[in-house]
Amino acid sequence: MYTQSFNVQEGAAAVVPAPAANAPSAAQQRFDAKVSADTKIEPQDWMPEAYRKTLIRQISQHAHSEIVGMLPEGNWISRAPSLKRKAILIAKVQDEGGHGLYLYSAAETLGVSRDQMLEALHSGKAKYSSIFNYPTLNWADVGVIGWLVDGAAIMNQIPLCRCSYGPYARAMIRVCKEESFHQRQGYEALLALMRGSKEQQAMVQDAVNRWWWKCLAMFGPPDADSPHSAQAMHWGIKRISNDDLRQKFIDATVPQAQLLGITLPDPDLKWNEERQHYDYGAIDWDEFWSTVNGNGPCNKERLATRVKAHDEGQWVRDAALAYAHKQQHRTQKEAA
Ligand SMILES: [Fe+2]
Ligand SMILES: [Fe+2]
Repeated sequence: MYTQSFNVQEGAAAVVPAPAANAPSAAQQRFDAKVSADTKIEPQDWMPEAYRKTLIRQISQHAHSEIVGMLPEGNWISRAPSLKRKAILIAKVQDEGGHGLYLYSAAETLGVSRDQMLEALHSGKAKYSSIFNYPTLNWADVGVIGWLVDGAAIMNQIPLCRCSYGPYARAMIRVCKEESFHQRQGYEALLALMRGSKEQQAMVQDAVNRWWWKCLAMFGPPDADSPHSAQAMHWGIKRISNDDLRQKFIDATVPQAQLLGITLPDPDLKWNEERQHYDYGAIDWDEFWSTVNGNGPCNKERLATRVKAHDEGQWVRDAALAYAHKQQHRTQKEAA
């Protein structure tokens, strides 16, 4: 996913089916045994209500992030610098739409409807990854999003392939394969720019300067400020802590930046021989929370675009439904 999930609106609880009264402890024991044996929990299995709610929140936030994530890059489809880049970008943006669909379907298996999830997004109650509330100012931003944003997404998502909830884990396997293509296409687009003019090289450096810290924040608050992580780890939803994922991302990205020939905008970034990891500077969490809480540069624009697209697509949904009814009617008539 594009970010760790956060606790959001209380309203989310309203869409969750009521818990079975006094679920038998044998069911809880079976659930615990499955989780500790690393066996998948499936939709028909009994599960604690808090587990179900956590997954609904996390998977729906993830789905929202995929479809809102189509917007900053979608803006560049008509301005891509060549036919090849345009074709690649269309494929990538389409993949993100597909990721959203797998994830909404996975969340639906937990007893929440697509309409409920979209309503929560469109009314501003549900969160999506804050990284998509920043603008894409030039073509280098598109490359940097592929390299760093999709790169961070992969780091977050690979452990989710082992998530205890079967439909989510299985969706992640395909998503990760596609994210890997996204990351490589971004890096390759940046390599092409770095082989270009001084101005093109400066564009890449400028875009990296603007996106680097925001990408580090994508892994979520520091472990010490992430009180729900321990429970998610216990349930086998989360496998690696926010800080450990962030460190893995930094360690993997520094050599790629060197190969690219750009400087990561952190004077404190240096190899620590003792830790065998890179040390890095302080992240501006105030900016992060301000954006999460709706005050980023593009929050309103992204939501308005999403709502408009949904409203303008109403006729497609109506037509698809009418066609399905017609088909059903015809089949019934033939069977009669
Ligand atoms: Fe994606
Ligand atoms: Fe992606």
